[in-house]
Amino acid sequence: MYNVLLFGDPGIDDSLAIMYALLNPKINVVGIVSGYGNVSQQQATQNVAYLLQLAGREDIPIIAGARGPLSGEIAVFYPEIHGEEGLGPIRPPETIQRELVNFDEVFKIIDNYENNLIVVDVGRSTSLAIAYLLGGEEYLRKVKAFHCMGGAFLVPGNVTPVAEANFHGDPIAANLVLNKFKNVFITPLNVTNHAKITQETIQQITSQPFNSFTPLIKPIFDYYTNAYKKLDHGLAGSPLHDVFTFFALVNPEQVQYVERQASVSINFDKTKGESIADFRAQSSDQIAEDADHIALSFNYQAFVKDFTTVMTIR
Ligand code: BDR
Ligand code: CA
Repeated sequence: MYNVLLFGDPGIDDSLAIMYALLNPKINVVGIVSGYGNVSQQQATQNVAYLLQLAGREDIPIIAGARGPLSGEIAVFYPEIHGEEGLGPIRPPETIQRELVNFDEVFKIIDNYENNLIVVDVGRSTSLAIAYLLGGEEYLRKVKAFHCMGGAFLVPGNVTPVAEANFHGDPIAANLVLNKFKNVFITPLNVTNHAKITQETIQQITSQPFNSFTPLIKPIFDYYTNAYKKLDHGLAGSPLHDVFTFFALVNPEQVQYVERQASVSINFDKTKGESIADFRAQSSDQIAEDADHIALSFNYQAFVKDFTTVMTIR
């Protein structure tokens, strides 16, 4: 069982990832830090609250994450991909009122699950960097591993020619996470772009009312698919970046990693947010002991099968 403290910015693929995590018997979600990214922090919180209510999991604390990047720049949101409210055509009911828990809860959770906690970050890295800045390096060693969706290595980005949205959104925070944290597993865009789910799979997982999330899945997926079509990414199917990060966590045997120290351009020029790692052949003694684990490839059939199985759990 993986005890997971989740950092996210839902967002459509984040929402599907939250559903996947809540349904998956291998995952125990112990808290969700909702931050800005795809939508504002306030909207992300509302969306998390809605998903937790649907799941009957109001016992999971929602922790107040960051509202903007460390640079102080104004946060940029992506309604064209995720919809104004972040769930495509779905509006979370306004009647849902959840008390946000203070950021301090992150440290309580780390203490409670010392050495038995995984952090999964599928949003901007700001809140995680703040945990480091407040708690310090030694403190974060109590976390077993950090699994982060972000970066685009050796391929085009999705928000600039060279940068992916999570790392571009707060490059200072992302660079800090990659350089200061230990046991970091990165699932970058060049891999998650291939974690595509097709309409056929969506038909299958919505063919019956399997669980309380089923009615949401098709409308939000259709919205996301149309958005991707408009962007003309040349991708068949729609990539579920954040779902893939969870799949990689619980199915490590299906994912191939390379160990390299990664970093992010913190120059506020056209390289902003670019992910950098030296992929040239290296002997094992050249690779730093605490290098990041960067996903390179995965078993696509296993991904589709696992996603279908988990999303149809009753
Ligand atoms: C990442 O950015 C967000 O738009 C998605 O939710 C994902 O986490 C992909 O670049
Ligand atoms: Ca995300």
